[in-house]
Amino acid sequence: QFAAECEMAEMRISSSKSEAMVLDRKSEVHVPHEVDQIKDLEIRDSDVFAVTFPKSGTIWMQQILLLLESKGDLRSANMRTIYTSSDAVGWIELKGQPERFTREESPRMRVTHLPFELMPTALTQRKGKVIYVARNPKDILVSFYYFHKIAKFLETPKSFDDFFDKFMNGEVLGGSWFEHIKSWYLHKDEVNMLFITYEEMIMDLTSAVKKMADFLSIELTEDEVQQVVKHSTFKNMKEMSKANYKRAHPNLIDHKEGTFMRKGTIGDWKNHFTVTQNERFDKVFEREMKDVPASFIWDIRDTS
Ligand code: PPS
Repeated sequence: QFAAECEMAEMRISSSKSEAMVLDRKSEVHVPHEVDQIKDLEIRDSDVFAVTFPKSGTIWMQQILLLLESKGDLRSANMRTIYTSSDAVGWIELKGQPERFTREESPRMRVTHLPFELMPTALTQRKGKVIYVARNPKDILVSFYYFHKIAKFLETPKSFDDFFDKFMNGEVLGGSWFEHIKSWYLHKDEVNMLFITYEEMIMDLTSAVKKMADFLSIELTEDEVQQVVKHSTFKNMKEMSKANYKRAHPNLIDHKEGTFMRKGTIGDWKNHFTVTQNERFDKVFEREMKDVPASFIWDIRDTS
C-alpha cells in the first residue's frame, strides 16, 4: 500500500521550477533538494524515461515499458513488480527515487512529469533514451478535471469552468501544459527522443509498440508485439490490478467517485467544453504553440 500511496502522491508536483516542485511539503513526498539532484544523475545508455504531462498516458507507458522489457510475457512483467507497475517503473522525482535510481541494475526504466530543465543534463550528451508522450490538451483538461474529483490530495474543482481557468493559467499539478511540451519539444534534437502521441497509440497501438521497440532496440517477434498490445489495451489494463490503480490507498483516491482508468478515448472534451471555452482554448493554443509544429488529433472521428 505504501508504494501505491507514494505513486499517487508523487503526482503532487507543479512544473514551476525546482523548489516549487513540491506542493505538499508536509508529506515530503517530493524533497526539493532531491529533485535538484536529478540534474546531476549519471545516465547509462540503457536508461529509459517516459515523459508525460499528467493525464497523458503515464500508467499506460509503465505497462508498455514493462511488457517490452518482458517481450510481451505478462507473467514475467508482473514478476518485476510487487504491488503496481510503478514498483519497477516509478517516477524519478519521488522521494528517495534519485538515490534508488543510482543503485539500480540496468536496464533502468522511469516515468516523469518533470520539465526538461529539471532532468539529467547527461541526457543532452545523448545518453539514455526518452519517450515523450503528448496528448491533446483538451482531453487532458477533462481527464484532469475528473481526476481532481477522485484524488483526495487535489482540490475538488468548484466547477468545470473554474477548473478550465486554472488549467489555462497553469495553476494545476504539472503547471502549464504549454510550457511542459515546449520545454521538451524544443530540445528534442539534443536528446535521444521519440516523440509520440496518445492519439497515435489509441489509433494504432501495434504500430506504436513497434516504433517504441525499434527506438529502444528491443527485438520482438510479431507474436511478441501482439502480446504487448494485448496486455496494454484499455479494456485489459482496466482489469489488471497491478496496472489500473484500483489499489491506490483510499486516503488518496476516492474509488466511489470514479476510476483512474476512466474513458481512454479521444475527443471527450467535446462533451464538456462550451463554444466560448473552445474558442478561448484555440486562441491560446495558436499563440503558445506557434514554434511547435506538433499536430494533434482532437476527435475520434478523425481517426478513420
Ligand atoms: S497520471 O495521473 O498523470 O499518472 O495519469 P496518466 O496515466 O498520465 O493518464 C490517465 C489517462 O490515461 C488513460 N489511459 C489509457 N488510455 C488508453 N489506453 C490505455 N491502455 C490507457 N491507460 C490509461 C486513462 O484512462 C486516463 O484518461 P481518461 O481520459 O481520464 O480516461
